[in-house]
Amino acid sequence: MTIMRFTITPKRELFKRDPMIYGHFLEHFHRQIYGGVFEPGSPLSDEDGFRKDVLEALRKIRTPIIRWPGGCFVSSYNWKKGVGPVRTPFFDKAWRVEDPNTFGTDEFIKLCRKLDCEPYICTNAGTGTAEEMSDWLEYCNLENEGEFARMRIANGYPEPYNVKYWSIGNENYGHWEIGAKGTMEWARLVMESAKMMKHVDPTASLTAAALVDLDWNINLLRGSGERLDWISIHAYWDAIHQTNDLAPYGRCMSYTAETEASIAQVRGLLTAMGLEKKIKIAFDEWNLRGWYHPNAHTVYQGHGKAEYLLPRDDNDINASYTMADAVFTACFLNTVLRNADIVGMANFAPVVNTRGAIFTHKDGIVLRSTYHVFDMFVNLMGDTVIDTWAEDVEPYVTPGLKGEVTVDCVDVVATRHNENGKIVVACVNKHEFEDKEITLCLPVNGDVRVTSLTGNSPDDYNDIGRDSVHPFENADAVIEKSDNCLRLRPPAHSVNIVEIG
Ligand code: AHR
Repeated sequence: MTIMRFTITPKRELFKRDPMIYGHFLEHFHRQIYGGVFEPGSPLSDEDGFRKDVLEALRKIRTPIIRWPGGCFVSSYNWKKGVGPVRTPFFDKAWRVEDPNTFGTDEFIKLCRKLDCEPYICTNAGTGTAEEMSDWLEYCNLENEGEFARMRIANGYPEPYNVKYWSIGNENYGHWEIGAKGTMEWARLVMESAKMMKHVDPTASLTAAALVDLDWNINLLRGSGERLDWISIHAYWDAIHQTNDLAPYGRCMSYTAETEASIAQVRGLLTAMGLEKKIKIAFDEWNLRGWYHPNAHTVYQGHGKAEYLLPRDDNDINASYTMADAVFTACFLNTVLRNADIVGMANFAPVVNTRGAIFTHKDGIVLRSTYHVFDMFVNLMGDTVIDTWAEDVEPYVTPGLKGEVTVDCVDVVATRHNENGKIVVACVNKHEFEDKEITLCLPVNGDVRVTSLTGNSPDDYNDIGRDSVHPFENADAVIEKSDNCLRLRPPAHSVNIVEIG
């Protein structure tokens, strides 16, 4: 058997990754906000009602940015009713529940300040108007000019929030979205909204809802390319919104090559339009698993709560989130690192509850398998991506949704810490059952430390009172070490971070 070989050239710097590729998303859906990050009255919450255990977990993975409030929710959200001393509960027409309305812009900014992370506000381009979107910017970013800055001051917040990141709309291309738009209609709305938003704050970093579709994106970029700083794309690969029929491990691996293809298509379009140096990709909603909300988000809306509402609790089944989720998440992050010249932001959707990395319950939290992937990447990987040349990578034939799909069995990305030159390599073994042997060819100066995440089986998971999936120091993974070579044995279904020096 030919040993897979990865030649790493530390001197060949590719690009510095933006820390926002490790970003997150929270929507007013099920228990992400209420009962998730925000639970006034809980003994585990602070004086502002935020769960202290959730805040601590989010700080540990150095949350760089949070996108809020949606997602589909935002396309009929009236932000003005979500600020000020009087908050009236409203019916959320996207998810057909009553929103208590006690969490709005001011609470969101408070959350981001507690986490020392960037707020990223997605505006309502469904029922909303260019004026309402730009009014939101006035409320957040103007010093004291005009009605909305004065409203913020009157609400007790004298200083501007300086929210830098803004999205015009969410998935307005989709029939499921309230206020869905046609291609030309969308191009016009974004042009006018971006114009008004930039008139309020020319420093605002703007994106707009897009998808991997040439017609939509060409018209969007023709009209607003000069005013946009990002283009947003979303992806959920295991599309189980209606069935919760979780893809097994092998099928999840069949999806691991699709991220690259999506990025390549958007990169190609930006290049063709001469915008690849001006506009970056924000992968601002992504997760292996689509959220389970049957008979919603579709043409048919469930009639009884048992049909469309109660099933949402099944997103909370922690056994759903296994090493398949962890391995896929590591492959996604590796792909984004390989494309970090053009992907400047990615937001795990969501980070708390639903399919998120952190599960909350009344007595504490569960760190699901994906949480540990973020912990390993954020806290161990370097800030500069360096060249990795792969040879003889073993093909891995996986059972895709519509037949066999061959992917690389092992996925390797190398980085360097600019401050101390330390080389850190992410090495993912996708194979469900087999350990693999690989050779890393690179200068090996100093100690080698391998941190692995494998669980006890491909289907292992964490839950209340169960913590069998967690990173550990894996000395057994190092077979041989010399001055310019490392032979490693990454275990089956594993994420491994190799630190050198
Ligand atoms: O399933 C959740 C939804 O997925 C989000 O609200 C939306 O942005 C995406 O379609």
